[in-house]
Amino acid sequence: MLTDQFQRTISYLRLSVTDRCDFRCVYCMAEDMTFLPRKDILSLEELGEIGAAFVELGGKKIRLTGGEPLIRKDLATLARALGALDGLEHLAITTNGSQLASCADALAAAGVRSLNISLDSLDPIKFKSITRTGDLTKVLAGINAAQAAGIENIRLNSVILQNYNLQDVEELIEFAIAKRLDIAFIEEMPLGSMPNSQREERWLSNETLMQELESRYRFQRPDALEDTAGPARYQKIVNTDTRIGFISPHSNNFCSSCNRIRVTVEGRLLLCLGNEHSLDLRAILRRPNYSRDTLKTAIIDALSLKPERHHFYDPEHPQILRFMSATGG
Ligand code: 5AD
Ligand code: SF4
Repeated sequence: MLTDQFQRTISYLRLSVTDRCDFRCVYCMAEDMTFLPRKDILSLEELGEIGAAFVELGGKKIRLTGGEPLIRKDLATLARALGALDGLEHLAITTNGSQLASCADALAAAGVRSLNISLDSLDPIKFKSITRTGDLTKVLAGINAAQAAGIENIRLNSVILQNYNLQDVEELIEFAIAKRLDIAFIEEMPLGSMPNSQREERWLSNETLMQELESRYRFQRPDALEDTAGPARYQKIVNTDTRIGFISPHSNNFCSSCNRIRVTVEGRLLLCLGNEHSLDLRAILRRPNYSRDTLKTAIIDALSLKPERHHFYDPEHPQILRFMSATGG
């Protein structure tokens, strides 16, 4: 088992397979982004090797992220390799849903059991204004395809911003209830440099959102067993199959129960979303005398770099210049 110096067990790897995306969500990317050249990104084999090493170290869950993971060519090949790893209990993907209609079946067959699908509005025009390039119709078709493929564990992810989609929350919840999906509301995190983005003005506290929703819905705490370890605090909506999760990096610090590490598509092992400590796994993978054992030892050693907590909202702390798309969202 991987354990860090704060006695946190690390069982969950978020593995980014591309920094590219077909969307340009306002909270995630600047309008013009430069992406990594191909030679700098890990091959599918290298990504698979990291996954295998992690599972041999006791890892139980891997989530493929991006950018948008489904635009990586032959992603299903990697998913199949990971899905076949002995000891892996949970293979998940975070996606914007735009390509799901064509690949949901292949992913389900590869062993993908859960999906987080980003959805910030059900109004096509607003959806376009938040994603800058996204087509809502395709995403809705993707959600249907994932359900039809038998992927049972689907959660919608919504980043709620004032003056953008605060008015859309109720419609998103009604959609989640009708489709029997979970939905999580995520506070915007200040990742990446975005001049003139009015990030502070549009930021919305989940506390405020929760108070508004409490007057409209009846909630109950789900069974303790259902409470997934992770940053989302869930409330079940009474008489529905839907849980609402609140991911509140600002108003509710969840770092003490952090069970995860991330690997960027350049092979940087990041120990925390909100700090720059990292280790270059790509250099190890590309050594002429590479062996899986050296990779495993490096991962164990790197855990000593895992900081106690993020400092996103501490004005004294340097800003994180990595964009979410370069981090593994
Ligand atoms: N703050 C909070 N959530 C973000 N996401 C992307 N960028 C940010 C940010 N700056 C979310 C997306 C998606 C997931 C990949 O991360 O909504 O659900
Ligand atoms: Fe793409 Fe997801 Fe970032 Fe939006 S949030 S630009 S869909 S990676």
